[in-house]
Formats: sequence, C-alpha cells, structure tokens
Amino acid sequence: MSEPVLSVAGLTRAFSQGGETIEVLRGVDLHVGAGEIVALLGPSGSGKSTLLQAVGLLEGGFGGSIRIAGEQVAKLDSDGRTRVRRDSLGFVYQFHHLLPDFNATENVVLPQLIRDRTHAEANARATALLSALGLGHRLTHRPSQLSGGEQQRVAVARALANQPALVLADEPTGNLDEATADVVLAEFLRLVRGEGSAALVATHNERMALKMDRVVRLHEGRLA
Ligand SMILES: Nc1ncnc2c1ncn2[C@@H]1O[C@H](COP(=O)(O)OP(=O)(O)OP(=O)(O)O)[C@@H](O)[C@H]1O
Ligand SMILES: [Mg+2]
Repeated sequence: MSEPVLSVAGLTRAFSQGGETIEVLRGVDLHVGAGEIVALLGPSGSGKSTLLQAVGLLEGGFGGSIRIAGEQVAKLDSDGRTRVRRDSLGFVYQFHHLLPDFNATENVVLPQLIRDRTHAEANARATALLSALGLGHRLTHRPSQLSGGEQQRVAVARALANQPALVLADEPTGNLDEATADVVLAEFLRLVRGEGSAALVATHNERMALKMDRVVRLHEGRLA
C-alpha cells in the first residue's frame, strides 16, 4: 500500500483557561489514504476544528506526530509550515474567507501564482474549476455579488486550485440552507474525487458524512 497522505499519531492539544486545563485532544490516531474522503463527526465542542487546525499547521501547541505526504511536519518552523500548506494542503471553511475586492476567477488564480504558475495557466485552471462547479456564468462576479452557495463553490475551487494532496474542510456547507448544502457538498465530493485529492471533512451532519468514503468520530478527545 502506498503511504497515507495523512498520518496522525498520539495527537494531543490542551487549552489553559482561567487556571484550568481543558484537554481537548487526548491522543488522536488517524490515517487518510491517497484520494480517500473521510468525514470527521463529533458534537459541538468535541474538538473537530482543533484537530483540523493542528493538521493544517495553523496552530502550534499540540503534541504528537503529524505526517503529511510522508513528511513529519509537527516540528516544522514557520517557513516549513508555510511550504507544506502551500504545496500539499487546501482549505475550505464554514465562512468562505474569499478576498472581497477580487472576483471569483481572481480568487482562484491568486493561490496558483504563489506556486509559480503563469497567469495564463492559472486563469485556465480557475475557469475550468469554476465551470465544473456550475459557475461558468459568474466568473467575474465579486463575492458580494454571489449567493452563499456560489461563494462556497468559489471557496471549493480555490482550495483545489493547486491540486493539493489533502483538502481540509471545516463544516464546508455549515452556513448554507439544507438544500443548497446538499448540492454544494455533492459537487465538492465529485470534484475532490475527480482531482484525486484526499479530504478530511468536519461536519455535524450524519447524513452528509455517509456520502463520504469513511466516517471517524471524535469522542472524549479520541477517535472512535
Ligand atoms: N483558543 C482556545 N482557548 C480555550 N479553549 C479553546 C480554544 N479553542 C477551542 N477551545 C475549546 O476546545 C473545545 C473544542 O473546540 P472546537 O472548536 O475544536 O470544537 P468543534 O468540535 O469544532 O465544535 P463545533 O462543532 O461547535 O465547531 C471547546 O470546548 C472549546 O471551548
Ligand atoms: Mg468547529
């Protein structure tokens, strides 16, 4: 078997708050294979976002081992973390975090320019991704001129722009009404599968989780 895209072992994270220590992650072990889409379920406050932030190298302060695409990343310095995020990871959040002054295409082009693509290549890929998500007629709209579902589709295209080995998604449709969420999730899964990326997707929603390849549950700081 090829090496997992993500291997987490013994991951711990505690927060001190007013003299009290809250152990949120108490030894999480998780493997995600190449191209595998894993749903991360757990009630509010169980640590889903904390886990995604650790794996996304967005926050320090955790213990344990994290391997991404074969590289031990838990102890990297800031430059190393930036490199891994840029080269191997894509992110989708509950709120899209698009750049408000740039249109849909530009929001998907920008992360590619950091990867030394030419503007023409980046533009062609942005157009292809947005068209695959049904936004071919909204390419030059700014985020404020798009519906919530359309904004979230742009965020999906941006996350996949650089063909990441692993997409980390934190309630990617949590801000949408149920019908729109179902459509956007289906498109997200289809595109991730088509691109061959793996994904770790935090959600509260059991029904959505069942559309993914595998479900893991956070319970009392560990994965069951
Ligand atoms: N910076 C922080 N300082 C103190 N406690 C924190 C901090 N960040 C998170 N926590 C605590 O860690 C726990 C897990 O939070 P987290 O956001 O990971 O949960 P979650 O599973 O993503 O929940 P939700 O489904 O509501 O998004 C919560 O009890 C929260 O209060
Ligand atoms: Mg959360």
